[in-house]
Parts: sequence; structure tokens; C-alpha cells
Amino acid sequence: MARRRQIYEGKAKVLFEGPEPGTLVQYFKDDATAFNNKKRGVITGKGVLNNRISEYLMSRLNEIGIPTHLVRRLNMREQLIREVEIIPVEVVVRNVVAGSLAQRFGMAEGTPLPRSIVELYYKSDELNDPMVTEEHITAFGWATPQEIDELMSMALRINDFLSGLFLGIELRLVDFKIEFGRLWEGDQVRVVLADEISPDSCRLWDMKTNEKMDKDRFRRDLGKVAEAYQEVARRLGILPESGPRDMKGPDTMQ
Ligand code: TMP
Repeated sequence: MARRRQIYEGKAKVLFEGPEPGTLVQYFKDDATAFNNKKRGVITGKGVLNNRISEYLMSRLNEIGIPTHLVRRLNMREQLIREVEIIPVEVVVRNVVAGSLAQRFGMAEGTPLPRSIVELYYKSDELNDPMVTEEHITAFGWATPQEIDELMSMALRINDFLSGLFLGIELRLVDFKIEFGRLWEGDQVRVVLADEISPDSCRLWDMKTNEKMDKDRFRRDLGKVAEAYQEVARRLGILPESGPRDMKGPDTMQ
């Protein structure tokens, strides 16, 4: 059977033409990059785990009224999604000081923030994702003021919901990055959650030991990267006993 047409290849995922107009197939690779592609590697099984974790988190968010691009998971590495126009803004929500925030202000990692901080970055590998303000975003036409309001309020709701969900499995949601897209329905357009939510795009620390259970294990060469992703899936209750190999979808597509 002919392979579907590839639409786009990113660092961790590939997008293929979907079975119907307005749909795409999102394929999760095992490739990992950090520091804007300067560090590269392969985390065996990561694509399978992120596909399942992102499906689970987006489905739960959908249940509380957050619209997402997800239609359904198709198989171990692929999900059917609605085709959206990605808004070129990365939205980072932080609850605890870590990563670039710690570096920028010389603060100790692990310091709890008195209130959550939302940061906006322009999605551009060439420019190394510079931080921007709403002024840049509206002046350069990347999103309208109304779209920014929508994605900011969704980001905070997502943070509240996911913080509680992870708290329930003894993980601290330190920070995360999300992306949004424009979905056309007739002549109406609305902003929906897109891309993925997984240990690639979140910092998750064990509540008891503070052990890192996310991509920082890869960024900082801490080892046991796939094991940490697997443990997140296990705690979420979505890892079959025999591991990611058994994570079959309802059907497979060629
Ligand atoms: P940072 O501390 O490096 O700015 O990262 C904040 C959060 O955003 C962290 O959970 C990792 C995530 N992130 C991405 O998903 N993609 C990226 O390109 C970067 C820089 C961060």
C-alpha cells in the first residue's frame, strides 16, 4: 500500500496527510533534541510513550472543555488530528523555578513561585525561540489580541487541571510548554490546543524524591530517560503490564 504523503517533519514528530480532508496523522518519533538541535539522540520507545501520554492528557483536558486537535489515537506511534494552522507562539507556564528561568535570574531550581508565570516565545528555530511580549505578537501579526486572551486563559486552566492530575500521582508539574492552532469550522475559526503534552514538553518531578521524570534526564545526561517516561505512563495508569510494546491502538493505518 502506498505510504501517505508527508506534510511536515519536526524534531520529534512527523505529520502525514490524513484519511479525510482537514485531518492529519501525527507520528511520534524516538528522536530527541535539546538546546535547539545542538544535542541529538534517540530514546528508544519514547514515541510510543509520548503518543499514549499525550492522547491521555489531551482527552482528559477535552473532558473539562478544552478544545484540542486530537481526534483519536490510531496505533502505537500515530494519532489522527484535525489540521490546524499553528500559531507561532510557544506558551510556557511555570509553577516552580527551573531551566531557563533559573538561569536568567540566577535563582535556585526548585524555588516555588508565589503565582504561576506564563511566558510567550516566538516559535522559530532559526532565531532560537526568542521570548516575546503580547506587543510583539500583535504588532507582527502572529496572533490577534483576542486569540492571545483565549490561549492565555486556556493555558492557566490547563495548568490548574494538569497540576492536580499530576499531584494525584505524586508528580510535581514544575513547568510545561504548549502550542495552539487555529481550527476552521465553516467560516468560523477557533483556537484549540495542538502539538503534544508529554515528558518532552513538561518538567515533572517526583514529589517525594524530587527525581526528574522528564526530558531534563536527556538534556542533562542523567540516564534512565525511557524508564522515567515509562514510569510517568505507569503512574497515569496507561502502561500495560508488559510495557509499551503492547500498546496497540484500535486499528492500524498503512
Ligand atoms: P525552559 O526552562 O528551557 O525555558 O523550558 C520551559 C518548559 O518548556 C520545560 O517544561 C521544557 C519546555 N520546552 C519545550 O517543550 N520546548 C523547548 O524548545 C523549550 C526551550 C522548552
